[in-house]
Amino acid sequence: MLKIGVLASGKGTNLQAIIDAIERKEVPAKIGIVLSDNPDAHCLERTKRAGIKALYLPAGRFKTYLEPEIEKKYINVLKKEGVELVCLAGFMRVLKKDFLNAFAGKIVNIHPALLPSFPGLESWKQALNYGVRFTGATVHFVEGGVDSGPVILQAVVPVRPDDTPETLHRRIQEKEHIIYPLAIKLIAENRLRIEGRRVKIEE
Ligand code: GRF
Repeated sequence: MLKIGVLASGKGTNLQAIIDAIERKEVPAKIGIVLSDNPDAHCLERTKRAGIKALYLPAGRFKTYLEPEIEKKYINVLKKEGVELVCLAGFMRVLKKDFLNAFAGKIVNIHPALLPSFPGLESWKQALNYGVRFTGATVHFVEGGVDSGPVILQAVVPVRPDDTPETLHRRIQEKEHIIYPLAIKLIAENRLRIEGRRVKIEE
């Protein structure tokens, strides 16, 4: 059983989708621990309800990344828990070198756009403002850059003429909740091979 650690800062709907898929036995994995940098995050509530270990670890002085000493704490807690795969689920901070090295090739993220389009924040608004006809969601491996690692799965969401940022984000999230557990399933079944930028899925 693959042991995963989830890092989340917000609502935690992706975390919930992962919890539900594991409970339905669709994903052969177990959540060892959930870490959050936000004490009020709804994701902590969800974890408690599901009987999963959760910890609030304050991020320190910086807004967009973890203070180096604190990043070490995150690494230690995850290692101590025996975490083999780190899933970022709306974690609002960029991970630095030490973290990436500690879990090299073992960190995944969900992004609310079809990467490499619209990396960064509020991608559904970026897509709407740009005027694209299609956007979507991407699960990818995490590397040094922001939202830049090899793509595992993507799902397409058409943009409707009457979409608002909220309606578009809601439909993107529906797709996220399908492809994120599916990507974790493929990793848990050891079916992914990274070849350069391409991720091959074995049948
Ligand atoms: C998602 O839209 C995800 O793509 C992005 O952050 C959001 C997290 O949402 N990385 P939730 O907390 O899982 O509901």
